[in-house]
Amino acid sequence: MDIPTRICKTLLISSVVLYLAFISLSNRYPNCPPAHFFTPTFLKISSPSPSSSSPTSNTTRQSTSSPGAHSPTLLSHLAFGIIGSEDAWHHRRSYIESWWRPNATHGLLFLDQPPSENLLPWSPESPPYRISRDLSAFLNKSDVTPQRIANGIAEFSGRWTMRICGGWLWGTTIRSSFWIIWLRCCSGFILSYPLAKDLVRDMDNCLMRYSHVVAADQTTMSCVADMGVNLTPLEGFHQIDLRGDISGLLSSHPKVPLLSLHHFDMVEPIFPNMNRSQSTLHLMRAAKADQSRMLQQTICHYRRRNWSFSIAWGYSAHIYERIMPRSLLQYPIETFQAWLPAPGPPFYMFNTRLPSTDPCEAPHVFFLDTVKRKADDIVTVYRRAWPRGMPPCFFTGNHSADYIHKIRVTSPAKKRLEIHRSECCDIVGITGNKADVKFRECMSQEIMA
Ligand SMILES: *[C@@H]1O[C@H](CO)[C@@H](O)[C@H](O)[C@H]1NC(C)=O
Ligand SMILES: *[C@@H]1O[C@H](CO)[C@@H](O)[C@H](O)[C@H]1NC(C)=O
Ligand SMILES: *[C@@H]1O[C@H](CO)[C@@H](O)[C@H](O)[C@H]1NC(C)=O
Ligand SMILES: *[C@@H]1O[C@H](CO)[C@@H](O)[C@H](O)[C@H]1NC(C)=O
Ligand SMILES: *[C@@H]1O[C@H](CO)[C@@H](O)[C@H](O)[C@H]1NC(C)=O
Ligand SMILES: *[C@@H]1O[C@H](CO)[C@@H](O)[C@H](O)[C@H]1NC(C)=O
Repeated sequence: MDIPTRICKTLLISSVVLYLAFISLSNRYPNCPPAHFFTPTFLKISSPSPSSSSPTSNTTRQSTSSPGAHSPTLLSHLAFGIIGSEDAWHHRRSYIESWWRPNATHGLLFLDQPPSENLLPWSPESPPYRISRDLSAFLNKSDVTPQRIANGIAEFSGRWTMRICGGWLWGTTIRSSFWIIWLRCCSGFILSYPLAKDLVRDMDNCLMRYSHVVAADQTTMSCVADMGVNLTPLEGFHQIDLRGDISGLLSSHPKVPLLSLHHFDMVEPIFPNMNRSQSTLHLMRAAKADQSRMLQQTICHYRRRNWSFSIAWGYSAHIYERIMPRSLLQYPIETFQAWLPAPGPPFYMFNTRLPSTDPCEAPHVFFLDTVKRKADDIVTVYRRAWPRGMPPCFFTGNHSADYIHKIRVTSPAKKRLEIHRSECCDIVGITGNKADVKFRECMSQEIMA
């Protein structure tokens, strides 16, 4: 790498960090709503191997099995720490409740102040709450939001250790110190238990060391960095430093599980004609039927009419009136805008396609309507959002898709584990205004171009 490139790269990385730091200052900047964050912290408790589930056999397991390599991670192995504000909980509650399963999901919500009367009695559909420790005297400053979020790790881990058999936890997780650790502030982060434990031990010192820092992600990152730990970004956590309509991004999601969508209140509702809470519930309907396919992009061609179908399972479907290669369709259409005006490219951390008014480039757009289980299949139906309002693509035979109003997609009701390779699909028929699509595994050497 030559020197100018290296400098540019360094600048890019640091500007990304500063950028994230900047946007989390929710109550300092007028274009951000006050205290609007809900930061999930996933604390991986343990991953017991099926052969030895006794909580007392800690030493045996340490010596015989390789940490978490073969045992699946279940919901019961995770604990969710959610750090939020009372002010925002009133309307954000529905977002969390859409995925929180009472008596099954483990975790706690930390609020900055006691809930007001209209939140009481506390809903059994919400995570149980606690009030965060007041750090303002300890740090001698009034805005302690960034430090409160970082300290949430300590509060959460501390309470969690008390709730669950301590010996078991320490015994089974201590060997798993290489487990995923990821941090990018507000879209969420996952900590292994041993790291969380070390962070807790040093938390007060760290808060003091970084009491001048004005962003939560930077405070937490600094504390983690001081532990000598490297962070691993996970693509499924979406920071969504974007504005406007993010449907273009969600319709060309990377081939990774969807984990979180940050800044959800800063973008338009993700489904047309729905508000944000309705949108969340609607998306979760699909997630409840099949988490493994959520937003995964599946592409097929209908050569009889020269059409391409691109389906973001559980969310949207697009029809293009020409054969488009996957390599192109995987780039999100730039339906959204940058978070802040930038002097020049790159505006995003991923490649995009510009929206087009060329009938051979612009898709017909459909959004998720219904989700149904049918024997061994799941049937999702996507309904046309609006008329495309363009003539047909002439060069590929003038085959207009204007009359298609529904796309019905049948996929196996079976968790898909081969997440890094897309599924394939076939257009099994077009009857009236409805196109029928069936998902299947790709055949070897099946190329979509
Ligand atoms: C775990 O192993 C240690 C060391 O062998 C032992 O002292 C401790 O009691 C064990 N803990 C549990 C919960 O069995
Ligand atoms: C959760 O468990 C408690 C006590 O076991 C029970 O009273 C309550 O109905 C359960 N809540 C739900 C939503 O299942
Ligand atoms: C707290 O901060 C104020 C000004 O920000 C300063 O005057 C005061 O000495 C500080 N108190 C302590 C105990 O450090
Ligand atoms: C969203 O729409 C639903 C149904 O119309 C309504 O009950 C709810 O209050 C709305 N939420 C907000 C935040 O406007
Ligand atoms: C598909 O498009 C090609 C040009 O790209 C054209 O030659 C061909 O006839 C078209 N096929 C149909 C079925 O219209
Ligand atoms: C293409 O379709 C348009 C209307 O959709 C029609 O007016 C035009 O005559 C068609 N052209 C050909 C060559 O089929």
